[in-house]
Amino acid sequence: MFLKDKKIGIAYTGSFCTFKKAFDELEKLVETGAKVQTIFSFNSQKINSRFGKSNDFIDRAEKLTKVKPILTIEGSEPIGPKKLLDILVIMPCTGNTMAKLANAITDTPVLMAAKAHLRNQKPLLIAVSTNDALGMSMKNIGLLLNSKNIYFIPFGQDDPENKPNSMVAHLEFLIPSIEKALNGQQIQPIIR
Ligand SMILES: Cc1cc2nc3c(=O)[nH]c(=O)nc-3n(C[C@H](O)[C@H](O)[C@H](O)COP(=O)(O)O)c2cc1C
Repeated sequence: MFLKDKKIGIAYTGSFCTFKKAFDELEKLVETGAKVQTIFSFNSQKINSRFGKSNDFIDRAEKLTKVKPILTIEGSEPIGPKKLLDILVIMPCTGNTMAKLANAITDTPVLMAAKAHLRNQKPLLIAVSTNDALGMSMKNIGLLLNSKNIYFIPFGQDDPENKPNSMVAHLEFLIPSIEKALNGQQIQPIIR
């Protein structure tokens, strides 16, 4: 299979309502034989919410991948010089992390991983998940869409009636989006 032995980073940021689906997709990714390294933003490591306890998510990531998650900025830094990943996926990616990424801010393990990985001119795939995608975050999404080596998992409005600015990635396209991005292509259509 194409993804077997590919080195794939899966980075979690604080869109907690998306975690269940993101973990389901992580499980499928591990089944392809990919070597998966998870990374957690500081907030995703410490916020417990109605969607679950942060420590349980970290434990589950380690059990699934059999690799200790990266939880610090210094833990992410070697991704650059040691060329540890073929592709990095931020899944889910908050409005907060997109805003920082679009402005070259590097103050979490996930953002350090993105910076280190992009230094190697390798693909970074983003799974948008934010209530303000069609609001304050739209300019950041636009910037990232137009940035070299950055790709998106297809995304769309999840609840236009109640949350008119909200958009989320369709995580079931994780594997085909990775395959395309590894070939330097954006999966289409992006908006669905
Ligand atoms: C229960 C809960 C759910 C949240 N869901 C989202 C979300 O879906 N999308 C988003 O952009 N932010 C969401 N947030 C806010 C982020 O967690 C917050 O902006 C945080 O600073 C993100 O940090 P990070 O991007 O470094 O992980 C949520 C917060 C809480 C407490």
